[in-house]
Amino acid sequence: MKYRTLGNDLTVSAVGLGCMGMSHAYGAPADKKEMTELLVQAVDMGYTFFDTAEVYGTPEHPHDNEELVGAALAPYRNQVKIATKFGIHFDMESPQVNKPLVPDSRPEVIRASVEASLKRLGTDHIDLYYQHRPDPDVPVEEVAGVMTELIQEGKITHWGLSEADEEMIRRAHKVCPVTAIQNRYSMMARWYEELFPMLEELNIGYVAFSPLANGFLSGKYGKDSVFEAGTDYRSVMPQFTTEGIDKNASLLALLQGMAEEKQATPAQISLAWMLCKKPYIVPIPGTRKLNRLEENAGASEIFLTKEEVEALDQALSSMEMSDVFGGTPTKK
Ligand SMILES: NC(=O)c1ccc[n+]([C@@H]2O[C@H](COP(=O)([O-])OP(=O)(O)OC[C@H]3O[C@@H](n4cnc5c(N)ncnc54)[C@H](OP(=O)(O)O)[C@@H]3O)[C@@H](O)[C@H]2O)c1
Repeated sequence: MKYRTLGNDLTVSAVGLGCMGMSHAYGAPADKKEMTELLVQAVDMGYTFFDTAEVYGTPEHPHDNEELVGAALAPYRNQVKIATKFGIHFDMESPQVNKPLVPDSRPEVIRASVEASLKRLGTDHIDLYYQHRPDPDVPVEEVAGVMTELIQEGKITHWGLSEADEEMIRRAHKVCPVTAIQNRYSMMARWYEELFPMLEELNIGYVAFSPLANGFLSGKYGKDSVFEAGTDYRSVMPQFTTEGIDKNASLLALLQGMAEEKQATPAQISLAWMLCKKPYIVPIPGTRKLNRLEENAGASEIFLTKEEVEALDQALSSMEMSDVFGGTPTKK
């Protein structure tokens, strides 16, 4: 495993572990004991960056993921960085599998969230605390002001924003320096590349979520893949439909070709492509499986030249591909 620094001083493994899918959005939650073992194996493998959120869970156990991550990593607390998020809840009235998100970043809500997250994580500080989604009713300056206080109180050490645009990041950074943003980024979702110049100017890291386009870029899913309706968001994602799979044939062929050239796998090439593009990008693929945990960590050892990255970019920009899941809509 290699390591990189987000912002001024948050050093993390170059590939982090997204823990969401262990408890939320990828079918019924996985077995807690098995996931606890997997988290420990991740630490042994050199992963030091773990991503969770207060809302990762099920209707019955809405905060399951923080509890899992906190308990599993407790013996290694000083070796690892834990990121979690505040500022949304789900619209539980909705019949949709991916229930709309309701943003709420009122200062009193953030205060209650941080206390509850610290308790569930069993720690006295959060290493990276993200606003999960912008709240149109609360100016980002007010949110950043609360972050300043939480840093002064030692409850968090760094903060960031998820799915924020340039204007919002700039405004937030003026009040309390932002260490990293966490936005969607993959070969199928490149719209935030326009933020790169600003991230470089302000020295802000980019934590890339859903870096495998929800697993699709691994090439291991096909028309016969079945996803649990009701609990697995992949059942409604455009890249996994029959039509989507047909449209993405060239994309998977491109990945397969480069994978053979580099003696790697398509998933590793998808991750290495972004790692080699910018030194401040840290992907956080999620998995429930040991072999994939190893495979994804291996991406940090694969080197693509500037020319190879550019050639991939060019091919991606000109080829046909389906829509990709762009996230659950927010409701306010
Ligand atoms: N800030 C936000 O709003 C936000 C939104 C979404 C996600 N996130 C964070 O980002 C993390 C990652 O995103 P994600 O889980 O949505 O998408 P992802 O990492 O692109 O894909 C995860 C899926 O890919 C599969 N997978 C992982 N590695 C694989 C490999 N090497 N080969 C084949 N399949 C593989 C996993 O299945 P198996 O488990 O079966 O291996 C899982 O279903 C989450 O865990 C969460 O922490 C944040």
